[in-house]
Amino acid sequence: MTTRASGRDNGRPTTERVQSIFATLAPDYDRFNKLSSLGVDRSWRKRTVSMARLNRNSVVLDLAAGTGDLTMALAEQGKPASVLSTDFVPEMLDVAREKAAAYKGPTRIDFTAADAQDLPFEDESFDVVTIGFGVRNLPDRAANFREVHRVLKPGGRYVVLEMSRPPFVPFRAVYHSYLHNVIPAIGDKVTGRRDSFEYLRDSILQFPGQVALAGELHKAGFREVTWRNLTFGIVAVHVAVK
Ligand SMILES: C[S@@+](CC[C@H](N)C(=O)[O-])C[C@H]1O[C@@H](n2cnc3c(N)ncnc32)[C@H](O)[C@@H]1O
Repeated sequence: MTTRASGRDNGRPTTERVQSIFATLAPDYDRFNKLSSLGVDRSWRKRTVSMARLNRNSVVLDLAAGTGDLTMALAEQGKPASVLSTDFVPEMLDVAREKAAAYKGPTRIDFTAADAQDLPFEDESFDVVTIGFGVRNLPDRAANFREVHRVLKPGGRYVVLEMSRPPFVPFRAVYHSYLHNVIPAIGDKVTGRRDSFEYLRDSILQFPGQVALAGELHKAGFREVTWRNLTFGIVAVHVAVK
């Protein structure tokens, strides 16, 4: 894995660091997302929703929901009975609440503060749990996987949308060069916080590849784990079944 010009610690999440980055970033987060992914992030969330296999009775928990783009995609496209949208940065959830206020569909949308590594919910409460670009920011992924396994009903699905590792090496080299040169520059332009985007870049470079992440989910007790690469593996959606 390439970590050119990046100390290994630069991409390591800590609770304080992640909360501070996202509290500051909240007003600019959506704009940065659209610019840095050239608008493709919308299609990644759409694919994530279809892999969640929702029906009108589904009870869904969206973790690390941030400004609510995946929450809203779940409600608009999947139309489950309910989505509980959670995050541990109130400034991010405030933006999500504004989006949900304009929603007119059949899904009930609620918000609550929750740390994705220590969930304040009863065992076997949800049919589907989702997380979009959140797992990479967790200091203790194993705790998150254990907790999600606990709160899912038997047969329930954990759907993980996350930056990943393009398998085709020449393409990966081009993509890593984009990460090194373009991401901090766009972040600096949009928010003036270059350091936050150097963290973001390094957290992507240091995140496990598709096979390793699937192994961690298996280890947490999920009986079936599959994934699909999107945009040549820049992003992968893992589905882990309890
Ligand atoms: C990159 S944003 C993703 C937001 C959204 N899911 C999306 O698809 O755009 C990551 C979010 O994860 C949240 N987060 C990071 N660590 C968390 C934790 N331990 N518990 C809850 N939320 C967390 C951050 O506050 C931030 O809002």
